[in-house]
Amino acid sequence: MTVTLAIVGAGARGASYARIAVSEGLATVTAVADPDPARRQAFAEEFGLPEANVFQDWSELAARPRLADAAVVATPDRFHADPAVALADLGYALLLEKPMAPSEADARRIVEAAVRNDILLGVCHVLRYTAYSVKLKQLISEGRIGDIVSIEHLEPVGWWHQAHSYVRGQWAVEARSSSMLLGLGHLVGRPVERVSSFGGLHHFRPENKPAGAGDRCVSCPVERTCVYSAVRIYERFLGDPVYEQWPLGVVTDDVSAAGLHTALAEGPYGACVYAGHNDVVDHQVVNLEYEGGITASFTMTAFTALDFRKTRIFGTRGSLEGDGRRITLHDFLTDTQQTFDLDPDGGASAADGHGGADTELLRAFIAAVASGDRSLVGSGPYETLESHLVVWAAERARRDGTVVRMEPVPS
Ligand SMILES: NC(=O)c1ccc[n+]([C@@H]2O[C@H](COP(=O)([O-])OP(=O)(O)OC[C@H]3O[C@@H](n4cnc5c(N)ncnc54)[C@H](O)[C@@H]3O)[C@@H](O)[C@H]2O)c1
Repeated sequence: MTVTLAIVGAGARGASYARIAVSEGLATVTAVADPDPARRQAFAEEFGLPEANVFQDWSELAARPRLADAAVVATPDRFHADPAVALADLGYALLLEKPMAPSEADARRIVEAAVRNDILLGVCHVLRYTAYSVKLKQLISEGRIGDIVSIEHLEPVGWWHQAHSYVRGQWAVEARSSSMLLGLGHLVGRPVERVSSFGGLHHFRPENKPAGAGDRCVSCPVERTCVYSAVRIYERFLGDPVYEQWPLGVVTDDVSAAGLHTALAEGPYGACVYAGHNDVVDHQVVNLEYEGGITASFTMTAFTALDFRKTRIFGTRGSLEGDGRRITLHDFLTDTQQTFDLDPDGGASAADGHGGADTELLRAFIAAVASGDRSLVGSGPYETLESHLVVWAAERARRDGTVVRMEPVPS
C-alpha cells in the first residue's frame, strides 16, 4: 500500500517532510494547504498536484472528503489545534508538529479528537528518533546503569539561534508561542509528580542596547561589533544549500545576497535584537521530580554555540554521559567505561534534518499508517499530552515561584 499525505502548512517543516517522504519512497503527496500563494504554487509544482487538491487554507481541505491517508500539520504553533481536530474528525491519521499547541486546552482538544476518532496521532518529537536517542533508551532499558536516580540535561540553544527564532522570529512573543522545554519523560518512563523552575529574559532587552545602535542591522553604526548582527548571522549562510532552507528560507524566499539584504532592510529578521519586541526567556532552569523520587535538572540557555544537547544520567549500577553523537557508559561493578559512537550524518539543528531523525520519524509514522501498528510511533496521545503538561507546569512554576504538583493523566 502506498501511503498518501496531505501537507497542511508547506513551510520549512511541511515541505521538508514532503520531500523526505517522496525521495525516500515512503509515501506520495496528494494535497496541500497553505495561505502563502508563492509557497503553495511552488509546492504544488514540485509535487505535481492537481489544482483541485491545492488549498489556500486547511479549512478548504477539511471541507472536502478525505484526500489522503494522513495529514502532516506543520502550520505555526497557534494554528495546530483547529486543523488537527477537523482532520481527525475526517479520519486522517495525523503527524503533528511539536509543540502540539500553545495552550493546554488546545492540546487536550487534539488528544480528545484523536481518541474520539480512534486515529493515529504522531507528534514530531524528532530527537527521539536519532540513532543516539535510540541507543540511550536501549542501554537504559537493558538495565546497563541499573535504576535511574537522577538526570542532568543542558539545552544549548545557541546565541544566533536564540536571536533568530526567539528574539526576531516567530517564537518571540510568549503569548503566541510555547515554552522551549521538552520532556525527558520517555527516558525515565515514569510520570512527573512535581516541577519547579527559575529563569527569565536576561539579555535581549532595550536596556542592553549598545550606545549609538540603530534599529536595523543593515544601517546600524555599531553593527560590526555586535554579536547579534543579523547581517553577520545570515550572510555566512548564503550559498549553502542546507542553510538556505533554514534559517535563510525563513528570512526570505529570495536567498540571494540582494534578497537577503532586502529582507534585512525591511523584515523582522533585520531588526535590532534589543528592540524589546520579544519576551521569551533566554535562560531557564527546571527541576523535575518523577514518581519514585527520581530527579532531573534541566538548564536551557541561549548563550552557547548551537550544539547538541548534553545529558548525564545517573543510575544505581552505572552512569551515562551523552552529547548527541557519543555515549559514554561507566559501569560501577567493573569500574570501566565503554563508548558508543553514533555520529549522525548531519548536525544538531532542524537545518540538518536533525541528524537523520526526520527521516526515521517519518519512516516510523508511515509504517504505522500502512500497517495499523501504532506502537511504531512510540508515544500514545496521552503520553504526548503529559510531556506537554510538564512544560506548562514548568512555566507556571517559574512565573509564580511555586512548586507545581502534576495531576495524573489517563492512559
Ligand atoms: N520538530 C522540530 O524540531 C521543529 C523545528 C522547527 C519547527 N517546528 C514546528 O513546526 C511547525 C512549522 O514550523 P516551520 O518552521 O515550518 O514554520 P513556517 O512558517 O516555515 O511554515 C508554516 C506554514 O504554515 C502556513 N500556514 C499558516 N496558516 C495556515 C493555514 N490556516 N492553513 C494552512 N497553512 C497555513 C504558513 O503560510 C507557512 O507556510 C511549528 O509548529 C513549529 O513549532 C518543529
